[in-house]
Amino acid sequence: MATLLHIDSSVSVRDTSVSRAVTETFRRTWAAHHPDGTVIYRDLAADPVAHVTADAFAAGLADPRTHTAEQTAAFALRRRLIEELEQADAILIDAPMHTYTIPSTLKAWLDNVTLPGRTAAEDSTLAGTPTTVVTSRDLSYAPYTAEEGHDFVQNYLTAVLAHTLHLDVGFIVAEFTQASRDPALAALLPLFEWSRDRAHQEAAVRARAAAGCRAA
Ligand SMILES: Cc1cc2nc3c(=O)[nH]c(=O)nc-3n(C[C@H](O)[C@H](O)[C@H](O)COP(=O)(O)O)c2cc1C
Repeated sequence: MATLLHIDSSVSVRDTSVSRAVTETFRRTWAAHHPDGTVIYRDLAADPVAHVTADAFAAGLADPRTHTAEQTAAFALRRRLIEELEQADAILIDAPMHTYTIPSTLKAWLDNVTLPGRTAAEDSTLAGTPTTVVTSRDLSYAPYTAEEGHDFVQNYLTAVLAHTLHLDVGFIVAEFTQASRDPALAALLPLFEWSRDRAHQEAAVRARAAAGCRAA
């Protein structure tokens, strides 16, 4: 039975979040092709995972037979999060831009699941899993804009997800989201709407591909 791991991290609620709406499109499309499939869902904004502690870090590098009681307890969360990832046939990650990079809740999750010798290895247990990242931001970071070069979401997540965890990663980007909330930016509204609509289309296409269906 197919499994999708769906991670949301936007601090905005479902009704107002641009990126959560796009991950919802992906999830619904994927589920339509896998009516008996399983969706493992984590909302990192509502239910953040613990940061990696000294015990959780040390346990990840040591033989489990040598773990202290504290290390065993601390490593339990990392093991659970890693097992969720390893079960997944497809991975969906919501990563709106926070202060030029990813939300700190998502960073804490990544710290937990990046485990040398297991997920972070040439023969990673996650190698090749199709992974879609939905990112959104108030501004545009496209070439020739004032913010060009300041997007530390895509290069960071490419380093972690593709280079380190060996996932098969693609990005969907929604820009100018502030225009949907600020009347003073009404002139940018068409650019936002174009970007948002394209993001939903790409989500549906990527979800069908992740579900093993050919492009429509
Ligand atoms: C803490 C925080 C930091 C943010 N930093 C940036 C930023 O550096 N650049 C930017 O363009 N937008 C920034 N934003 C705006 C969000 O990326 C944007 O509103 C996005 O659409 C919010 O996510 P969502 O609507 O997809 O849920 C920030 C938002 C928050 C909450």
